[in-house]
Amino acid sequence: MINIVDNKFMTSLVDQLRHTGTEPAEFYRITLLIAQLLTYEAIKGEEYENKDIPMWTGDTYSATVFDQKKIVIMPILRAGIGMLDGARHLLPAAQVQILGMFRNESTLEPVWYYNKLPADMSGQHAILIDPMLATGGTLVDAVLELKKHNCEKITILAIVASPEGINRLKKEAPNVRVFVAVKDDHLNENGYILPGLGDAGDRIFNT
Ligand code: URA
Repeated sequence: MINIVDNKFMTSLVDQLRHTGTEPAEFYRITLLIAQLLTYEAIKGEEYENKDIPMWTGDTYSATVFDQKKIVIMPILRAGIGMLDGARHLLPAAQVQILGMFRNESTLEPVWYYNKLPADMSGQHAILIDPMLATGGTLVDAVLELKKHNCEKITILAIVASPEGINRLKKEAPNVRVFVAVKDDHLNENGYILPGLGDAGDRIFNT
């Protein structure tokens, strides 16, 4: 299920990221804000429970509570780290698991270098975060890896998505929920999204 937020406020935030004059500190601040808004979209449909809590009148009140411990926030290194604190702001009690993958610049296919996933992730909801859904190769690989660890509920949060990446996820990782801030036009021959933001990691980390 692909959800493109694409409202005027979200578009205006992403357009600030597109501006080459947006300095890394401001780029990071906006990235965090977008990550929070996407996380909010992603957890709206979660199962919430009711629990009696004490109230100022001395009565109990049936409060809506959310068990964040079922959630595992998973940034994909490097650029995904730029979204992590935004997601954690909403879900401070969630687990965090980091995945290290880089893109081979000739084949554009992902290469793993860090993976410490627990053997059994059944019953958990993985939220993969990566600002750029470009070819989709990295995210498809991450989803397949999560499935090997019995994780059935998987959500992807990305800021900018290419149509090519979205189509690949639809084909190779169906049943995964995807929330993206905006969908751009296409990928160039080097796998960069156009109009895009450039290299999101470089912009976030000032490299
Ligand atoms: N990664 C980026 O940082 N930017 C792109 O456009 C594609 C992949």
